[in-house]
Amino acid sequence: MKRLSILGSTGSIGCNTLEIAGMFPDLFDVKAVAAKTNVSLLAEQIQRFSPELAVVFDEARAQALKKLLPMETDVRILYGKEGYRAAATIDSVDTVVAAMVGAAGLMPTMAAIESGKNIALANKETLVMAGEIVMQHAADKGVDILPVDSEHSAIFQCLEGNRREDLDKILLTGSGGPFLKRSKREFAEIKVEDALSHPVWRMGKKISIDSATLMNKGLEVIEAKNLFNVSARSIEVVIHPQGVIHSMVAYIDGSVIAQLGIPDMKGAIAYAMSFPERLPLRQPLPDFVGLGKLTFEQPDLEKFPCLALAYKACEIGGTCPAVLNAVNEVAVHAFLEKQISFLNIPEINKEIMARHPAVANPTLSDILEADQWARAQAEQVIDDLKKEGS
Ligand SMILES: NC(=O)c1ccc[n+]([C@@H]2O[C@H](COP(=O)([O-])OP(=O)(O)OC[C@H]3O[C@@H](n4cnc5c(N)ncnc54)[C@H](OP(=O)(O)O)[C@@H]3O)[C@@H](O)[C@H]2O)c1
Repeated sequence: MKRLSILGSTGSIGCNTLEIAGMFPDLFDVKAVAAKTNVSLLAEQIQRFSPELAVVFDEARAQALKKLLPMETDVRILYGKEGYRAAATIDSVDTVVAAMVGAAGLMPTMAAIESGKNIALANKETLVMAGEIVMQHAADKGVDILPVDSEHSAIFQCLEGNRREDLDKILLTGSGGPFLKRSKREFAEIKVEDALSHPVWRMGKKISIDSATLMNKGLEVIEAKNLFNVSARSIEVVIHPQGVIHSMVAYIDGSVIAQLGIPDMKGAIAYAMSFPERLPLRQPLPDFVGLGKLTFEQPDLEKFPCLALAYKACEIGGTCPAVLNAVNEVAVHAFLEKQISFLNIPEINKEIMARHPAVANPTLSDILEADQWARAQAEQVIDDLKKEGS
């Protein structure tokens, strides 16, 4: 029986995780759930899974949640940073599913590692911001960081049973997002709704926009670099629109091992939850005959500069990836709020990354400081753009 705390339980990954936990009640016991705003869904989850602890963003939402629950419900409700910390470190839990979105995932994940929990990691931003520190901390504490991101789960599976010194490179696949075939001339017209409708995957809003700009692939390159302790140069992005090959690993003898499956996050989530065992999920296999062919192409870095920026951030290193991550979060939020255009996202990322004097070998506090600096800079640029536009 694995005892779980699910941070981000109301999100796309969180809901899939709970669905799997619900399918295998003898294997998983949900002890804590944490969300930000969606108290009605959280209330349903509490009634279905009877966790000991539930956490929301602030006191008002904690009260709203309490009102939605029957009087007799036996759950402790906490809120804010201390609440998330409590959900990440609660004694009764052995595995924390880190499925919050954005930089908010970093400190709870660090706290979970500190208290010796294994981590099923969806929150890629944690490894983008502070990958070396997080991985070192996990190694020191002897805890596993199991990838939930489907590409990283695929790479993890392709690395199993092989000698690390035989690794040549990682081929990180990506569907190319909704604008793979759209010409750059039309990018100025892109609306929020267009960018949110991903052709292959159903995901939360932030990662959907990141997939449309290819920043998601860039963040995944940084995540893979840190998770598998390889250089960014040894990670090649390959666009594969069908999303059937979830990633591949090439060995020094020219042999390439790929992991395939339907484009559904449940496979990767379940593997992180049950590793080293596999769960009888009964997912359908890819319809190879129906698909007829699997295709591949190079990413267009001119059309999607965010991917090139992520490689650049790896090259600069230090606090630079954290800055890119923070600026991107602010820019994506502003785009979702219809304050800036789709084309502004890479422009703002590029401008602020260029302004940042990166700190080499940063401490966690250097990283948090760089994150705050980048957010303030991005907000200033967005304010200026709004003034120009009005
Ligand atoms: N979705 C996918 O298929 C997928 C695939 C690979 C990796 N990932 C990664 O997994 C993470 C989650 O993605 P998602 O698509 O599941 O996102 P999502 O659907 O937007 O869900 C995000 C979750 O985090 C909570 N949350 C948001 N901001 C928070 C904050 N400041 N403090 C605490 N909780 C907060 C949300 O709560 P409320 O909803 O209650 O506000 C929600 O439960 C991301 O890092 C993403 O990159 C996702």
